[in-house]
Amino acid sequence: MAATRLDGKACAAALEEELLVRVSACSVKPHLAVVIVGKDPASHVYVNNKVRACERLGIQSTHIALESDTTEDSLRSTIMKLNSDSTVHGILIQSPLPPHMDEESLTDLIEPAKDVDGFHPINLGRLVQGRLDGLLPCTPSGVMQMLDWSGVDLTGKKAVVIGRSRIVGMPQALLLAAKGADATVTIVHSRTADARAECLAADVIIAAVGRPEMVKADWVKPGAIVIDVGINRVDDSSRERGWRLVGDVDPSVGDVASLLSPVPGGVGPMTIAMLMANTVTAAESQHS
Ligand code: GUN
Repeated sequence: MAATRLDGKACAAALEEELLVRVSACSVKPHLAVVIVGKDPASHVYVNNKVRACERLGIQSTHIALESDTTEDSLRSTIMKLNSDSTVHGILIQSPLPPHMDEESLTDLIEPAKDVDGFHPINLGRLVQGRLDGLLPCTPSGVMQMLDWSGVDLTGKKAVVIGRSRIVGMPQALLLAAKGADATVTIVHSRTADARAECLAADVIIAAVGRPEMVKADWVKPGAIVIDVGINRVDDSSRERGWRLVGDVDPSVGDVASLLSPVPGGVGPMTIAMLMANTVTAAESQHS
């Protein structure tokens, strides 16, 4: 592999060092409530990782696990209770929710000041306005932090974001184009005429589409920077558990790119670190 590996784990560890200082200077112990509904094993792993990060940083966590058949009304009242609990500074509802629930309208109920996912229309609206001092979505802001940490100057660079989700693609495009980052951004999606041609023109590719190893080496301009946000489970009978995790980027891209953030070990740890940062920011601003 010719590309230098962009080490999300090391970047997250550096951020955690700074957060430890902020937590000890905070006038109150930051407190994150994480709500999960149902039994999706991957979601439970993610939630446990979030709770463990809280423990490392001296952040209080409350883990609320609800049954798959929980009603929307019941989840609504859980959210309202957490909103009115002044000892809780951050609320996260793990996605995906079961199919009988309307995820968007439920997460819209979270008090914007406690919306540590940054998905509330008020927080996303602030991002659209270019106000970057609020609660920003964790994965895209983690990607920005990683690029900055690696010394990448995005000014005037052509960036392609593959995917237009509310959680990653759309806010990622806004952050790349925002004043201060100053990239020129293209969003590639399922109706894009020629995704490969768009990627070949890019200096930076951020793949957040959820299609296993979609970005191949012949999609990438030599020397481009590639960030893989995909986490896909694919069958693998050679593994005892019967599956393995792959990203949206084919490993052969490592022969062409200059800098590559791999899966696993890339963006994943940064998402959690940014969630912790948002929780500390929420606690600080609720107690200032
Ligand atoms: N599921 C996958 N990624 C995320 C995330 O960033 N936040 C929440 N709440 N759920 C997720």
